[in-house]
Amino acid sequence: MATTRFGISLDDTLLKRFDRLIDAKGYESRSEAIRDLIRDTIVKDEWEAGSAEAAGTITLLYDHHTRELQDTLTHIQHRHHSLVQSSMHIHLDEHFCLEILVVRGKGRDVKKIADRLIGTKGVKHGKLTLTSTGKGLA
Ligand code: NI
Repeated sequence: MATTRFGISLDDTLLKRFDRLIDAKGYESRSEAIRDLIRDTIVKDEWEAGSAEAAGTITLLYDHHTRELQDTLTHIQHRHHSLVQSSMHIHLDEHFCLEILVVRGKGRDVKKIADRLIGTKGVKHGKLTLTSTGKGLA
């Protein structure tokens, strides 16, 4: 297999942080670390675009005072009720709510609802964590 060398421009601060990180992780070279990052990104993309069944969680952080936000989030979840297996709501303080949804379905469908929820105006932070359903991992 042919190998191509290419250069990457990075600001010094970012590069220093990256070097510290890969050193701590025990990589022998930047190239090795970057190859791993690229592979990880490709695998993640295949998974999220795929039809294989995945399970995972969607974490949402938002201010419940934001107008109509909670209604919108609930509405989206009801529209995709077969994907949302369970949800937990924690009132973090007077303003912020932390919501954790357990989702299960085709990777691409789970990704779609996660994008909708996380992209809803007023959601301060959101994250989809996908894992396997365990099938085929024996
Ligand atoms: Ni709350």
